[in-house]
This record gives sequence, C-alpha cells and structure tokens, in this order.
Amino acid sequence: MAWSPIATELLLVSAVFCLVLWVARAWQPRVPKGLKSPPGPWGWPLLGNVLTLGKTPHLALTRLSQQYGDVLQIHIGSTPVLVLSGLDTIRQALVQQGDDFKGRPDLYSFTLVTDGQSMTFNPDSGPVWAARRRLAQNALKSFSIASDPASLCTCYLEEHVSKEAEALLGRLQQRMAEAGRFDPYNEVLFSVASVIGAMCFGKRFPQSSEEMLSLISSTNDFVETASSGNPVDFFPILRYLPNPSLQKFKAFNQKFFRFLQNIVQEHYQDFDESNIQDITGALLKHNEKGSRTSAGHIPHEKIVNIINDIFGAGFDTITTAISWSIMYLVTNPEIQRKIQEELDRVIGRARQPRLSDRLQLPYLEAFILELFRHTSFVPFTIPHSTTRDTILKGFYIPKERCVFVNQWQVNHDPKVWGDPSKFRPERFLTADGTAINKTLSEKVILFGMGKRRCIGEVMAKSEIFLFLAILLQRLEFSVPAGVKVDLTPIYGLTMKHPHCEHVQARPRFSTK
Ligand code: HEM
Ligand SMILES: *[C@@H]1O[C@H](CO)[C@@H](O)[C@H](O)[C@H]1NC(C)=O
Repeated sequence: MAWSPIATELLLVSAVFCLVLWVARAWQPRVPKGLKSPPGPWGWPLLGNVLTLGKTPHLALTRLSQQYGDVLQIHIGSTPVLVLSGLDTIRQALVQQGDDFKGRPDLYSFTLVTDGQSMTFNPDSGPVWAARRRLAQNALKSFSIASDPASLCTCYLEEHVSKEAEALLGRLQQRMAEAGRFDPYNEVLFSVASVIGAMCFGKRFPQSSEEMLSLISSTNDFVETASSGNPVDFFPILRYLPNPSLQKFKAFNQKFFRFLQNIVQEHYQDFDESNIQDITGALLKHNEKGSRTSAGHIPHEKIVNIINDIFGAGFDTITTAISWSIMYLVTNPEIQRKIQEELDRVIGRARQPRLSDRLQLPYLEAFILELFRHTSFVPFTIPHSTTRDTILKGFYIPKERCVFVNQWQVNHDPKVWGDPSKFRPERFLTADGTAINKTLSEKVILFGMGKRRCIGEVMAKSEIFLFLAILLQRLEFSVPAGVKVDLTPIYGLTMKHPHCEHVQARPRFSTK
C-alpha cells in the first residue's frame, strides 16, 4: 500500500507537534489569580511570530498594537517578548515603574560587544551598572557641554563641531569641484567621528589613520545585527550555521575594541592627573581615586569598555541623523529655503552660527524634531527586561521578560499627530511661529526614557543643530532633476537611508 508510510510520517509529525505544544504550554509561568497575561497573536511552535516581524519589525509591531493594544506579547522562537506601545504606557513602565523595567535581557549578541563587558549591552542593571553609567555621564558632560578653559568657545562640543564643520564645508566643495557630486553619509561620518574622537582622546585620536577609516566605514556591520528581534538572539542554531552578518558583527566588535584599547593604553603611559583634557583622562583619573576608596570602583580594564560605549554610540547615531537631514532637505527644497531664510535673518552671513543661537532659530529646531519623529531612525530602544515580577496596566509580567519599546509607533500615532506620515516641521511651532510648542515636542520619543534614557541626548541635539546650522548657512543642497531618491529606511538598531551618491552642494554666497 503506497500511502501507509506517508500516513505514519504524518502521524509522527503531529505527535511531535502536540508534544512541543504541550511542553511550550507547561513552560509558561503561572499567572497569579485574578491577573491575566498580555494578549497577542497566535504563534507557530518553534518559530513563534518571527515570520510576522519580517524585514520591518517596527511596522509589523505597530500593526499588532492596533489590534492588541499597548501591552502585547509575541514569541520569537520559543522566547516570549513583551511589546510596549503608546506614550502613556511606555512612560508608566520606564518612568513610574522604572526599577521594574530597567534590566537588559541576556542576549547572545550582547556577549560579543566590547568583550561582553559593555555598560549598555549587558544584562547587568545592578549597582555596578549604575556606577559605570554615572561615571560615563559625568565624563561625557565634562568634555562636551562644559566649557574648555583654554578656548574662546562656549564648550568643548562647540569648539570641535565648529572646526569639523568648517573642514566639512571645504571637503564638500572640493568633491563638487572634482566629481560634481558626493555621498553625504560618508562625508558626514568622517566629521562626526572626528568630533567624538577629539572628545574621547583629545589630540591622540588618529583621525585619518587607515585603521580608523576602515572601522567607521563598517559600522553597518554593527547596527544591522544589534537590532531588536534579530533571529540570531532567539534561535541558537543560527550561531553555528554559516552566517556572514554575524561574522561581520564579531569582526567589527573585535577590531573596534582593539583599536580603542591601543589608544587608551597609550593615553595611560603619559597620563597626568593634574591636566585632564578628554573623556579617557577623566575616566582614568576617577579610577586612580576609586582604587583608594573601594565604593564605586571600576576595574582598570573596564575604562576601555566605557570608552567603547561612548565612542560607538556617539558617531553612528549622529551621522545617521545629519545624513537623513540632508536627504530630507534635497527632497523638500521649500523647507530648506525656510531654514536658510531664518539663518539669514537671525545670524546673517558675516559670522558662523553658534550654540547660543539655538533658541532664536525655532524653524531649524522644528525641522530637527520633525526629522526625529518622521524617520524614527532608532525605531526601538535597546531591548529591556523586567527585574522582578510586576503588573503593567492590569497585565501580569514575570521577572526577566524581554521587552521591546516601540518608539516608531509613538512617533506615528495618529491619535497624537493627526497626519503622522506628512513631513511638516510647522507642527512643532507655536501659533505665532516664534517658538517651539514644548508640550508637543515632548511627545517625540527617540532617546528612550527613564533609567536607561540615552546619556548623549543633550550632546546629540546640540551637535546636530550646530552642524546643520553651519552647513546650511553656507551651502544649498540638491539632487539633479531626474535623480530618484530612495528614502525607504533599512531596519536596524539605527535605520539608514540607502546610499545616495548624487547629492550636490552650491555655495550660497562668496566668502572671500
Ligand atoms: C541622535 C542621536 C542619538 C539617539 C537617537 C540615541 C538614542 C538612544 C536610545 C534609544 C538608547 C536606548 C534607551 C533605552 O534602552 O531605553 C540610547 C542609549 C544610550 N546612548 Fe544614545 N542616542 C544618541 C546619541 C548618543 C550619543 C552622542 C551618546 C554618547 C556620546 C550616546 C550614548 C548612549 C549610551 C551610553 C546609552 C546606554 C545607556 C544605558 O544602557 O544605560 N547616545 N541612546
Ligand atoms: C501645542 O500643541 C497642542 C497640541 O497640538 C495644542 O493643543 C496647544 O494649544 C499648542 N500650544 C501652543 C502654545 O501653541
């Protein structure tokens, strides 16, 4: 009989299927009486909802939130993942119940970042994490927005950005003279990396070394793997099968770590406690003090890990923001014109824009806010996890549950924005157009919130503002008629636009 082996196979397969289902059920934690688990879609055994996430998890999970609400649960593989949407729900979890939600999951990809010792990508959220975070925050503040006694600029950040933006203007004009066009991402990347390099290492930063250029140009190898919902974190088998993007991720992290280790080592040789001039110096100094008083002591090797976190976060994100800005400006020339009218009116053409001009340039500020909102180029925060059993909006959430926070959803919620898909900087201006509507601007979420909120937010916003003001005062950006510009974001920890090599820049006036 021809059919019988097939029937046997079918029987076997369904038996295994039932067994897996039964085991999966049994694994679910018990929900206390009177409470319920968050709702969510049905998932395949073994796969869970991974197929639903597809290549654009932020859009898929936004659609699911319309169906299941602000607190929902999916499975990736057999791992349950809580997905949070809606500004109020996210604020409730990350701020009001901040201690419950401040953890990070124990993900495989995290173990590959900074030798497994990252402050950011690491399951630790106890006192050691808190001490390292505070240390990083203080060092960053001292060498970005605090004033440099040796300079006329208001702060280190202004000093470095003014210098690098001026160099960028020159380079863009040179590209125009040579080729008649350029790729804005690559040009901006070099300038932004030089700024964070100078803040971290002062003059020791090997700005134009081969090693440094090859490193920063492969940052995509990082952000594409370090993204929320990457299957490699949820299906262990993918670590052992051939996996080119995982290999690139490992190689990038090792190269990056070694590069920074060498500079920190050099720095340590001629370290002078009475003359601290950069973030590395500040961390080393703290360490010297810490070795005497054991509280808050950070082991020496961990200095390089903190530098790795700051340097890594400090160039990819800001480059992405400025590059997206240029792409939006060339596709919305009337918005570019309005920014330039404002710059001409408030600053004129005789001097370079400064950080202190920011309040007087509300339209440029509104453009940046709208860019953050519309691109939502950090679609999810870094994954969180619960540190204890808790209850959110009436739903029971057990300890150590992996949590995705959907920032893209908040920034495109029609209930808040009315016309979320329209790019309209004016929405952030007050009725008379002279200031930013603060209430509305606080509804954009791109830096997370609560205990894990980005420590680079103030610096990032200032740097993006100053780069754009300096560039747009002097140059008009465009693409030739007929060139199609693709603005479809590529999913990752930070989302980029496809490379565009056809951007042009024309001086707005002569500077001689
Ligand atoms: C436009 C630029 C930036 C954006 C959109 C951004 C966004 C974010 C987001 C969404 C998180 C995760 C928050 C969470 O997990 O809840 C984060 C964390 C972090 N960011 Fe940023 N960031 C930017 C620039 C920077 C810069 C310039 C630095 C440092 C120089 C920085 C340093 C960090 C660090 C160290 C963390 C980890 C904090 C922790 O885990 O406790 N970021 N950022
Ligand atoms: C700010 O925006 C909100 C929401 O659109 C609006 O209700 C409010 O009146 C605005 N405030 C000002 C000062 O324009």
